[in-house]
Amino acid sequence: MAPRTSIAEFRELVNSSDRIMALLGAGLSAASGLPTFRGAGGLWRNHESTSLATPEAFEADPALVSLFYAWRKHMALKAKPNAGHYALAELAKRKDNFLCLSQNVDGLSSQAGHPESKLRLLHGSILDVTCFNKCGYVEYNNLSDPPCPALAPASEDYPPDQTMPLLDPNMPAPKIELEDLLHCPNCKTGLLRPGVVWFGEALDETMLDDIDDWIMLGRIDLMLVVGTTAAIAPAASYIYDAQQQGAVVAVVNPDPDSADGLGSSDFFFQGSAAEILPQLFVGVIGVMDGDVCQILVSITKFTTPPNVFSLPI
Ligand code: APR
Repeated sequence: MAPRTSIAEFRELVNSSDRIMALLGAGLSAASGLPTFRGAGGLWRNHESTSLATPEAFEADPALVSLFYAWRKHMALKAKPNAGHYALAELAKRKDNFLCLSQNVDGLSSQAGHPESKLRLLHGSILDVTCFNKCGYVEYNNLSDPPCPALAPASEDYPPDQTMPLLDPNMPAPKIELEDLLHCPNCKTGLLRPGVVWFGEALDETMLDDIDDWIMLGRIDLMLVVGTTAAIAPAASYIYDAQQQGAVVAVVNPDPDSADGLGSSDFFFQGSAAEILPQLFVGVIGVMDGDVCQILVSITKFTTPPNVFSLPI
């Protein structure tokens, strides 16, 4: 049986839900102009983005991987949260028992005001910096853009009708000497790398324990799955964990394949998270009018939200 698609039914569920969990992925930030990892936008130069996100790739070509992450950091610093980030942040402020697990490293949920106590960054942050040699050095919220002069080609801005030379696979990648990359100020030997979790690396154990403890506290009413292919463990396994705790699953994604496996009591909303999430949460957060600057004002003023939305599918 196909999942439900009724916004009205979903609004009733979210209004009455106490414990809500969410799993967020790169699709949430797509409307902010940030590329996803898989599918369209998943290629960087002629590399699969995912093939650059490994310790082995960094070891083999630290300059290339550093350029890739310097570019992603530049993009993240330029990006603004979209209405989807704001809607989730507002929901978190209004629902005491809402835990949001984000696979995104772009910092946009925090920028939208998502309470930190209700947000877990499963895959770290692109703004953090650590030592590749694991000497223990960590720097939080480093806003340097570019991270060092050698990586400047990753931070250039070009008009939309021109291809940035770094992104053109027909142009050679800039030659960068190892000594021109950032080295750890603590151990002096290791190269600095982004504070993100790469394939094959472990997630922060304390954070995982804390999430497990939250899940085990009791019944989960609703599991939101937003903008993710849910292809990576352990992130994707939280959907199953929530189901084990009784959760109805609601997927928000433009890709119809992302509804595979949903049951008839689950929900599927096909489309952009930036457009759909504000509509789904209107009963709790009030009306967002699409102008992010005015959202917080209109939300706090609102008492009885009218039923004015229809899904833009
Ligand atoms: N709104 C909602 N979803 C969208 C939108 C949008 N505007 N645009 C695209 N999507 C969906 C795509 O259909 C796809 O299902 O977002 C999803 C993006 O999937 P991935 O690129 O696989 O990103 P994600 O699931 O976050 O990847 C998980 O894998 O590469 C690693 O560590 C990396 O955190 C990342 C993890």
